Amino acid sequence: MSEERKHRVSRRQFLTYTLTGVGGFMAAGMLSPMVRMALDPALEDTDDSDFISIGLSEDDVTEEPQLVNFDVEIEDGWYTSEQTQSAYVFRQDGEILALSPICTHLGCTVGWEGNQDYPDQFYCPCHHGRFEPDGTNIQGTPPTRPLDVYEVEVRDGMVHLGNIRERG
Ligand code: FES
Repeated sequence: MSEERKHRVSRRQFLTYTLTGVGGFMAAGMLSPMVRMALDPALEDTDDSDFISIGLSEDDVTEEPQLVNFDVEIEDGWYTSEQTQSAYVFRQDGEILALSPICTHLGCTVGWEGNQDYPDQFYCPCHHGRFEPDGTNIQGTPPTRPLDVYEVEVRDGMVHLGNIRERG
């Protein structure tokens, strides 16, 4: 077989190459928007340091924990919803502290001075869990770690809360 004949493309090969190329191009055209839609929320920049105002003036924060409810926007992929969250906000040694009221045992809601036998403590009615005023769990009660704490910032005299984090 001559060298020239070896490199000739048959009609069948030409059609195969052409149809494969066109098919691949069309498939890429159809799939790329789908891939982009699926990945876009995950690739979007998220600012984890978002703080939101809870509608409480810095001057109104006392040493007595007060329960404040506030709405946060929750983004889940393409779906955005509002959720009401709560925090006990108070001053301790001059610093503003914001504690989650969710008991770290099994998730019930604790109350400040929720039991008259334990003044100056957070009390969980579900299994008698108790926490010190700074949120530290009291040994011998069911919770094994302190109440979670929010990041706090004061902007223009108003208390803003950020991410919530576990302690200890
Ligand atoms: S849920 Fe609070 S003590 Fe069990």
